[in-house]
Amino acid sequence: MKVMVTGGCGFMGSDFVRNAVKKGYNVVVIDKLTYAGDERRISEIREKIRLYKIDISHYKELKEIIFNEKPDIIVHYAAETHVDKSILLPDKFIYTNIVGTFNLLQACRDFLKDFLFIHISTDEVYGELPKDRDIKFKETDPLMPNSPYSASKASADHIVNSFVKTYKFPAIILRASNNYGPWQHPEKLIPLTIARVLLNKKVPVYGDGKQVRTWLFVNDFTIAIFKVIENGRIGEVYNIGSDEEKENIEVVKKILKLLGKNEDLIEFTSDRPGHDLRYALDTEKAYKHLGWKAETSFEEGLRRTINWYVENKEWLLEKLMEAEEFKSKILKYYSRLN
Ligand SMILES: NC(=O)c1ccc[n+]([C@@H]2O[C@H](COP(=O)([O-])OP(=O)(O)OC[C@H]3O[C@@H](n4cnc5c(N)ncnc54)[C@H](O)[C@@H]3O)[C@@H](O)[C@H]2O)c1
Repeated sequence: MKVMVTGGCGFMGSDFVRNAVKKGYNVVVIDKLTYAGDERRISEIREKIRLYKIDISHYKELKEIIFNEKPDIIVHYAAETHVDKSILLPDKFIYTNIVGTFNLLQACRDFLKDFLFIHISTDEVYGELPKDRDIKFKETDPLMPNSPYSASKASADHIVNSFVKTYKFPAIILRASNNYGPWQHPEKLIPLTIARVLLNKKVPVYGDGKQVRTWLFVNDFTIAIFKVIENGRIGEVYNIGSDEEKENIEVVKKILKLLGKNEDLIEFTSDRPGHDLRYALDTEKAYKHLGWKAETSFEEGLRRTINWYVENKEWLLEKLMEAEEFKSKILKYYSRLN
């Protein structure tokens, strides 16, 4: 069985690629290798896969690869993923997340016969939830995205859905909550916090840090994809999240505690404009259709994650340098807005 993974050198895509190779899939990766992509994430199985370094927003190159490779399954992770970057530099999000997704759909429709297209989306497409009520997003809820990132992902979801309805295109959409684990770029909260704490530097926290996110260990998400390949129903959308709802400040304090540092390192900064208060997913449908639910507790996942970054400090600090440059730019921008 041949599986093509877009964004297979990214944080989540590489976890799937490593595991798909172990399971005996014939794996082909498409990745532009932007600042967020890194071949080292798949070095342990590099000899066993084919990697095409191309941009999915360039149709000509993309269609040739799809025509030549003729995959049975496409798992579409490739995207621009950093919300802050989408606020300062939204253009790339439109090209990659919307045009790139459209190109993939077109190429699959033109050149493939029997295949399954798994589109990776996010809980952020639903917009935000109130903090004080015990409600969660269901797959049938309307999409009301608030950032250029989530709007570009919601646009892609709509286009995928339109292909399903119009052309009977064999796609399944997964909407994931915040993933964390080894190999995540330190532009994101958990590795950023770990990196700064390891350097004994202040840890920036947006606003009052009371925003709530649901945390899913990346390997649990990978397992969900294998379940979708086995049991997923064409045309369906599945929410893939956990019950581990945490305020950002709680996450930061937990990391400080596990690394033996005190809370003086926390530094509150200007908030991100349009910062959603809370996301939470109802995952009942994934359990019923796929037999999937999150297995790794936040406690256990976070311990494993911290251990990995401590052991791979060199990689983390190399990536932190890039992240810090952008972080200082965006903080200046937000402080001018507030
Ligand atoms: N990380 C999360 O918490 C999270 C949560 C929900 C959904 N998602 C979704 O999951 C997917 C993967 O997220 P991630 O955190 O692993 O992202 P990431 O930023 O770590 O990796 C993205 C990958 O896509 C590649 N890429 C970017 N633009 C490209 C282009 N134009 N052509 C080809 N490749 C390109 C990058 O080089 C990189 O390897 C994304 O679609 C994202 O929206 C992520």
